[in-house]
Amino acid sequence: MASANATSSLLAPAISAASTPSACPSTLSKKATAIRRRRTVSCRATGGRSDRDDGLLWLPRREMLTGLSGVAAGLVGYPDLAAIALEANPVESCRRGEKVNEKLVECSDPNRNFPCPPSSQIPIVDFKKESTVKRIRKAAHLLDKEYQEKYKEAVGKMRALPESNPLSFAAQAAVHESYCDGHYRYDPTEKNRPFDVHFSWIFAPWHRMYIYFYEKALGQLIGDDTFALPFWNWDAPGGMAIPAVFKDSFANPLYDPYRDMKHRDALIDLDFIHTPATTAPIPFERTPDTAAAYDALVQKNLNTIYYQQIRGAGGPRAYLGEKLCSEASFRVKEINERSKRRQDGPKIKVSSAQSQGTLERMAHTAVHVWAGRENPKGGCTLSSGAVLGHDGKPHCANDMGFLGSAGRDPLFYSHHANVDRMWHIWSTKLGGKGFDDPEWLDASFVFYDDVEKPRLVRMKFRDVLDSSDLGYTYDESEAALPWINSTPTRLSPAGKGAAAGSKAAPEFPLTLTSGQTVVVSGVAVPAKQPGKDLVLLIEGIEYDPKFDNKFDVAINVPKEDASKLGPQHIEYAGSFSAVPSSKADGGTLLGKITLFVDGVLDDLGAAGDATVDIVLVPRTAEKIQIYLPPTIENA
Ligand code: C2O
Repeated sequence: MASANATSSLLAPAISAASTPSACPSTLSKKATAIRRRRTVSCRATGGRSDRDDGLLWLPRREMLTGLSGVAAGLVGYPDLAAIALEANPVESCRRGEKVNEKLVECSDPNRNFPCPPSSQIPIVDFKKESTVKRIRKAAHLLDKEYQEKYKEAVGKMRALPESNPLSFAAQAAVHESYCDGHYRYDPTEKNRPFDVHFSWIFAPWHRMYIYFYEKALGQLIGDDTFALPFWNWDAPGGMAIPAVFKDSFANPLYDPYRDMKHRDALIDLDFIHTPATTAPIPFERTPDTAAAYDALVQKNLNTIYYQQIRGAGGPRAYLGEKLCSEASFRVKEINERSKRRQDGPKIKVSSAQSQGTLERMAHTAVHVWAGRENPKGGCTLSSGAVLGHDGKPHCANDMGFLGSAGRDPLFYSHHANVDRMWHIWSTKLGGKGFDDPEWLDASFVFYDDVEKPRLVRMKFRDVLDSSDLGYTYDESEAALPWINSTPTRLSPAGKGAAAGSKAAPEFPLTLTSGQTVVVSGVAVPAKQPGKDLVLLIEGIEYDPKFDNKFDVAINVPKEDASKLGPQHIEYAGSFSAVPSSKADGGTLLGKITLFVDGVLDDLGAAGDATVDIVLVPRTAEKIQIYLPPTIENA
């Protein structure tokens, strides 16, 4: 996919105040600057520039990285610098933001050719807007017979292409695998740091681009340029099950045997995660016996979408995720100190420090986990149909439930068509606005187009903000927005404080395991600054990405009510959750969440309070460590 000759230089300007985006002001301390100077290496950049004549400092390329995870990982060899830089100014890393493009990230896997998409020396062309909207995406459960057959025929033909064709089904699945399972790397000179299109503001536009080319290839294969990718309409009651077109027989090209067969004909749970207490699924066929539970789950699903699209989605950071170089601080040094204080203190590897938006971490994640197989209790082995991750280990939550294999299930593309539709609705009907940061707008990726004569097309995020520029839109005639008024209700009577009877402050780091509820009482709420949002920040969340990971966060909910908490309640402030993936480099991952809580505080009548109680409710069996206490900040 990306060209192999991407970088011309091992060196890059470390810091140029003039080119620093204003969102991330430079305040590096003198001491850190001095250390930086000592680290300066002679310039081997093309064009003969040097730090002497252009006033720039030059650092090894690996220090010139995008994002927080970048800075932390990039400074591994320079612990003193890492400590000082992060201590002196937690937002220091922001200045290193760089537009993501094929020069910054490259699929490079020295040991295995697959699943890097087939490489090509052909030149890259820039994307050109489509002049007309020809493709109308429809709900998969409402397709007529003829359209269903078309969809099957197209995917059947794609499956029949040789794997060497970059638009074959296998190669398409490999594109997703490469971008999320450690095959893409930041900068070809830095082979040890994986790049991932998930967990940040890259998520929505990248997936829009990806399924755009998938859709076009399908249309081309059946000679119909009006063919549009059907969407899995899981946000409407009629679509809250795997659509029939995906499951009717083994001969069906849309069928995939690697799914959770218990969920084959079940009502979906958009807040799903495997928990020790997971109850039997409710059949999608509603009967008098199941009516009460059925209706409650449908309602909860609608509330989940309401939270994802409206309540928790008041701005691009809340909805689309934080920038790859997060603006929030990441207190690596403090985390490591806390980790050292523990007997069993793990080695912290900072591999993932971005924060997902509600679009990614709510229904999207739950649907992946719900559709994929459950990890077998007795352990996962290759003989039980697992897929091999880039970590060399077997992963059993395939296909949909493991990021490395998700693209192998045709359901994935219709699932993502609905994720994309959610973004489309947010940016149109709901009036949401994307980022105006050029770092986002000009981020670009290169994809293959044209089944017959594959060519490389470069797309920027700014090219994909309006779906009509891509020649498609969504059919909303039947699928209204049944969740649009699904406001949450109160779980516990007002005034019943969370911390009643549990004043002892928990000690951090703390280990979350299911069944437990942790109350952090008296968390200070700063006065709200004009033009800012109040965010609840939890940093230093260490988890093993191989498992389902999830915990809910609530405000002022009494401990004894916490187990009943969900997105249907006003006390619910959000969740940390992630689709299982490979361990990037054999270690655990460190994540964070940024939850926009103005709505919750207003609804609780706590907007002017000096403090609130934050309640953490782990949902999964695997343990999650949290190194730093939650804080509420203006952002
Ligand atoms: Cu790239 Cu739903 O994941």
